[in-house]
Amino acid sequence: METQFDCIIDRYKTASLKWDNVRSTFGVDDVLPMWVADMDFMAPAPVLEAIRQRIDHGILGYTERPDSYFAAVSEWMLKRFNWPVRKEWIYFAPGVVPAISFIIQAFSSPGDKVVVQPPVYYPFMNTTQNNGRQVVYNPLKMENGRYTMDFDDLKRKLDPNVKLLLLCHPHNPGGAVWTRDELTKLGQICLEHKVLVVSDEIHADLIFRGHTHIPFASISEDFAQNTLVCTAPSKTFNLAGLQTANVIVPNPKLGEVFAAQMKKVHLIRPNVFGTLATESAYKYGSAWLEELLDYLQGNMEFLVDYCETRIKQIKVMKPEGTYLVWLDCRGLGMNDEQLNQFLLTQAKVALDGGNWFGPGGEGFARINIACPRAMLADGLKRIKQAINTYCGK
Ligand SMILES: Cc1ncc(COP(=O)(O)O)c(C=O)c1O
Repeated sequence: METQFDCIIDRYKTASLKWDNVRSTFGVDDVLPMWVADMDFMAPAPVLEAIRQRIDHGILGYTERPDSYFAAVSEWMLKRFNWPVRKEWIYFAPGVVPAISFIIQAFSSPGDKVVVQPPVYYPFMNTTQNNGRQVVYNPLKMENGRYTMDFDDLKRKLDPNVKLLLLCHPHNPGGAVWTRDELTKLGQICLEHKVLVVSDEIHADLIFRGHTHIPFASISEDFAQNTLVCTAPSKTFNLAGLQTANVIVPNPKLGEVFAAQMKKVHLIRPNVFGTLATESAYKYGSAWLEELLDYLQGNMEFLVDYCETRIKQIKVMKPEGTYLVWLDCRGLGMNDEQLNQFLLTQAKVALDGGNWFGPGGEGFARINIACPRAMLADGLKRIKQAINTYCGK
């Protein structure tokens, strides 16, 4: 049965980063873009309708977040994650990566250290370095086809200069939805060493069957007091171009420091459409999200089955959440430059190179499966044919 997500929408000439910036990013044109994390699906109808109505009003002046905005965010967190979030904990940021950058500026000094757990979303490293802080790697381990955290390594690396740990929860690119046990161990170590946890939960709504997202700050009052949680509706409802995120800070002292940083750069007022879209999505987007999750689950199973049966050289790390899938291409025996070039010029697909994600990413590639299934099938067929030719079949 066809669903709304099967519809192929032409995104060329919409100033889309994913589609129109392929040449400037990869140096080629004629490839299928399956990289950067946005979806080739329309946002939920109630969100688009709310924006349309706002445009019809015709005046797009300075905007504040109304009480109904905070209520919608809080209700979403309670309903989906059983996490009661108070209005005064919710701070605006024009995106999660900008939020992380402001947090680094506010809670550490140049030269201080920030822990990341690679392979991980590459802006974690870039943002840390761009702010003149040192990146400390606490590499993930691969156990039974899933990433796990190395707590012994973490303990060894935490010295007094380490101020922050950037947690990717759920994990991009590995798709791990960290368990209560993993989060509890991590949080205890950070508390003991006075390391603040920045929990990037932008993918929290995109969880596959059999897994549950637990907000890091919801685990205990101690954790809540030591955490800044970054959330957004942007991945969930495909609203990334609206540059609207929320930083949830239960500790009022930390909240004040964050707010002061935002005030310094005068980022105190949100975008009119971002605000409206966030509220509408959280209020009216649940049914759409359930359909999306079914569709993504289908895409994920399609990909896993396709690689198992038809591209045996690639091993899929079966994700527990997110629409980003980590492909272990080490079986091809190529170095990173060769692998990235092979995917681009032979398979004609644009994926995120595994080596972009830091240590442990070598020999991998990340594919975005949030597209119509026919497009996913096209991408996989391209990869299969290129590998068959390469392997002389
Ligand atoms: C883990 C993670 N954090 C943040 C972002 C980007 O957030 P924003 O566009 O709000 O800066 C992404 C996008 O891929 C992501 O995967």
